[in-house]
Amino acid sequence: MKKQTIITNSAQETIEFAKIFAGDLKPGLVLCLEGQLGSGKTTFVKGLAEGLGLKHPEQVKSPTFVLMHIYKAKTPLYHFDCYRLNSREELENIGFQDFVNDPHAISCVEWAEKAGDLIPEDARCIHFEILDATRRQIAIS
Ligand SMILES: Nc1ncnc2c1ncn2[C@@H]1O[C@H](COP(=O)(O)OP(=O)(O)OP(=O)(O)O)[C@@H](O)[C@H]1O
Ligand SMILES: [Mg+2]
Repeated sequence: MKKQTIITNSAQETIEFAKIFAGDLKPGLVLCLEGQLGSGKTTFVKGLAEGLGLKHPEQVKSPTFVLMHIYKAKTPLYHFDCYRLNSREELENIGFQDFVNDPHAISCVEWAEKAGDLIPEDARCIHFEILDATRRQIAIS
């Protein structure tokens, strides 16, 4: 996965970018999605799910209150949102470490900053920046 920075001009463009991006991903990968509220992290996951072969990507919604959703795409996609996380135990209790170490799935973690050292060291980071109402900068590192 190469480093790149792109600017999208609409939510649909972010979805299209994520769909293409998904084509390059190897199972086992963990993606940390960082950036402020409304910067496009969940929108990106929707495109990712579609790119990974999920039949109904409209089911992709923020797992803010439940911590995690599982999408049964061709490559399973685990979607975490740590925004409301109170303690690392909450993540440990749902089996976070087993999920992110699943070699057959792709994991993405919104607000990964809050998961601290539970994030595997080889995770990749994508940072989302709000430029204006409809433009987002997406930086893959
Ligand atoms: N270029 C763009 N890319 C992505 N989303 C965009 C873009 N322009 C506008 N939007 C809008 O910004 C919002 C992004 O919301 P989204 O839920 O994806 O953000 P988020 O980063 O997951 O926020 P949260 O931290 O609350 O989970 C949506 O309402 C979307 O329609
Ligand atoms: Mg979100």
